[in-house]
Parts: sequence; structure tokens; C-alpha cells
Amino acid sequence: MKIPVTLKVNGETYEVVIAPYRTLLDVLREELRLTGSKKGCDVGDCGACTVILDGKPVNSCLVIAATAEGREIQTIEGLAQNGKLHPLQEAFVKEGAVQCGFCTPGILMSLKSLLDKNPTPTRDEVKTAMGGNLCRCTGYSKMFKAVESITRPG
Ligand code: FES
Ligand code: FES
Repeated sequence: MKIPVTLKVNGETYEVVIAPYRTLLDVLREELRLTGSKKGCDVGDCGACTVILDGKPVNSCLVIAATAEGREIQTIEGLAQNGKLHPLQEAFVKEGAVQCGFCTPGILMSLKSLLDKNPTPTRDEVKTAMGGNLCRCTGYSKMFKAVESITRPG
């Protein structure tokens, strides 16, 4: 059995007909072809699939897509606006905070959610916001530097 579901992603409305058990991550990637959200573990451990749902970061591999109907979903594809990178993205590039890049979309969404509510977080607040995001490459310190380059310039 499949059900119709309407999803609002990055301000665009998408109609899909899907099995009721499918996750938001799978629907984003496989139905909407928004493949920026990554599937690392598929069980809520790595944060690579993080999207913002009604203002809060969530592991989209743990969200049933149908329960996201009518809610505001933001994905990494919506972070750049009008062809211009988000300041977080620019800072990550400038500070070399990306290596393989697999964790980066999820980390940026966790950080965007933080900065939307708290534009000048402390290092501890940044760490807490990224607590559910694993990176196997960078050691995190360049990410902290990147965030602080825009939240605490100079
Ligand atoms: S893929 Fe969702 S937390 Fe790892
Ligand atoms: S940059 Fe490779 S996992 Fe984070």
C-alpha cells in the first residue's frame, strides 16, 4: 500500500506517493533527488542525515516521511540562497573545515539551526549543537574555528 504525502522542502511543495514506513531521508534522496543529506548509519548515530524540521535539527533517517507532512523541512540544498553560499558554508571553505565532506551537510544543518536561534554561541554551545554529528576526518577544530570566524570575528 502506498499513500500520498505532501512535503514542503526548502519552500517548495512536493507531492509523493510512498509506502507509509519510508523515512524522510530515503524520500528526500530517492524520490525528490535531494541527495545532499547523507546516509551514514541509518540508525540515528552519525548525524550525516540531519535536516531542520520546524526549526529543529533532526536525524532524517529516524523520521517517517509521512509525519513530516505540512511541516517546514530545510535541507542542505536550501542553505545557499540566490547562488550565494551561506556564511557558514563560506567559512567552512575558507577555514578548510571540510575533508571528505560526508558529514558536512549534516553538520552545517545542525549549526544553522543553532545560529538561527543563537547568533553568538559559546564554544560549548557549538559543541553541544554538533554533539550528534560524527566526523571521521577533521578533528572538529577547524569547524569550531569556522563557526567562530563568523560569530566572533576579529
Ligand atoms: S544516517 Fe541518520 S544518523 Fe546516521
Ligand atoms: S569531513 Fe570526512 S567525515 Fe567529516
